[in-house]
Amino acid sequence: MVLNNALAQSHKYVEKAVKPGDIVIDATAGKGRDTLFLAKLVGGKGCVYAFDIQKKSIELTSELLQSKGLANTTLLNESHDRMHEFVKPGVSCVMFNLGYLPGTDHSVQTKGATTVSAVKKAMHLLKKNGIITLVIYQGGDTGFEERDSVIEFCNSIDQKLFAVMKTSFINQKNNPPILICIEKL
Ligand SMILES: C[S@@+](CC[C@H](N)C(=O)[O-])C[C@H]1O[C@@H](n2cnc3c(N)ncnc32)[C@H](O)[C@@H]1O
Repeated sequence: MVLNNALAQSHKYVEKAVKPGDIVIDATAGKGRDTLFLAKLVGGKGCVYAFDIQKKSIELTSELLQSKGLANTTLLNESHDRMHEFVKPGVSCVMFNLGYLPGTDHSVQTKGATTVSAVKKAMHLLKKNGIITLVIYQGGDTGFEERDSVIEFCNSIDQKLFAVMKTSFINQKNNPPILICIEKL
């Protein structure tokens, strides 16, 4: 298939934006799959900062990185809306894979207000042509509040400063995930 789902397409954009040696952020570490993807892209001279509010997620991500012999990641058991307290400006990518961690309590999930606050912090940290990717789930246990908050905020971003693109399959049933990508101009 030529067309990618939201998560796979986010990886395509990130592969274009991130170079070896870059500093990048995984805003939602979860089981560490996106953190691992970023850690491989930036390599030994780069650095990944990965955030998650669940201790279990930090443990799972740490185990995954160790099993792959990667030591270029700083894991932070903190909310992503505090990322500016831990990371200096100049990052090439911030990935958000929103929602809840499958197999855990679905009520521990990202929330519209916190996510929008974190995206604003991420926009300040981006370098020129750096990107933010947001994979947004909707419906089911996730609902629509976060999707609506994020889209409302993204609609208001100054087009002279950032390019913002929204992608989704429009003919799929059951509310497929949406990808939003924000690039600093
Ligand atoms: C869909 S999962 C992420 C999947 C992950 N990227 C992976 O590759 O496995 C969403 C994660 O966001 C985390 N989360 C929820 N609210 C958060 C917040 N305010 N700051 C950081 N992480 C948060 C959840 O604990 C959950 O692990």
